[in-house]
Amino acid sequence: MLTLGIDSSPKLSFQAFNALRDIIYARSGIFFTDNKRYLLETRLSRRLEQRSLKTFEDYVLFLSHDTGRENELNELINTIVINETSFFRDQMQLDAFGNGVVPGIIDRKSKEGDRSLKIWCSACSTGEEPFTLAIMLLEKGLHLKGWSVDILGSDVSAVVLKTAESAVYEKYSLRNMPEPYLRKYFSDAGDAYRLNRTVHDLVRFKRINLMDSLQTRQNRGMDVVFCRNVLIYFDDASKRKAIGHLYDSLARGGYLFLGFSETLHNITRLFRPVSFERSVVYQKI
Ligand SMILES: C[S@@+](CC[C@H](N)C(=O)[O-])C[C@H]1O[C@@H](n2cnc3c(N)ncnc32)[C@H](O)[C@@H]1O
Repeated sequence: MLTLGIDSSPKLSFQAFNALRDIIYARSGIFFTDNKRYLLETRLSRRLEQRSLKTFEDYVLFLSHDTGRENELNELINTIVINETSFFRDQMQLDAFGNGVVPGIIDRKSKEGDRSLKIWCSACSTGEEPFTLAIMLLEKGLHLKGWSVDILGSDVSAVVLKTAESAVYEKYSLRNMPEPYLRKYFSDAGDAYRLNRTVHDLVRFKRINLMDSLQTRQNRGMDVVFCRNVLIYFDDASKRKAIGHLYDSLARGGYLFLGFSETLHNITRLFRPVSFERSVVYQKI
């Protein structure tokens, strides 16, 4: 039921909030707790404006029955996700990747005569994370030693992937980037910076929803999977689903990186926590 406040902007009733929460959850695994009702109201009011709808109840109907619902569902998800990221985010974890995980994999695979490295950044937002890994691997000179490196960057949001594919970044995204890398791997693009082709060519992007077993199933035999700073938006059921999909995508002995504040505690016992310096990484048993 509606619902207009004194300022006449549409108000999100409990019923409409519950309906929208269910739609968002089914689509992305992201769960909005009751205290996020106002946040959702603010974020989604622009969607109503764009669709010339007057109430959130109309919006729920649109998302449920309109022929344009598929496009709008994508717009909805693009509007509510948090895309915060940057190059070289959480250096300690990257140290674990560069100094612990990668040398171990290279050592083992070299002995097996396999010179391929497959990495998946599974909620990569605007691309800074997979491009950071590409720069780190270029610095190791793997490509010069006959290794084939394949880095997949994926996200549920098509909008962020467009930015990733353009590979042009504002200074803010580069705030943690070591200065020599900026000179080595970027060129000026007006007020922004364009990533060089050498880095770009190591990374491909694809829209993948971590909740979707058909989409995630296409990725197999990964040596390393990054899934940082997204589980925090999921409830336990969604976390289990996403982690199950990532488990299936990893090769035996492969490694999973979660965000600093994220853990597999109470989610699964299928991984072995391994400490590298001051970071914990999860290894598929
Ligand atoms: C805060 S960003 C984290 C980016 C990067 N991993 C990092 O740590 O810097 C979270 C990303 O997760 C994505 N995301 C949310 N739900 C998702 C889902 N169900 N499947 C795939 N990506 C999802 C969002 O679109 C957003 O770009």
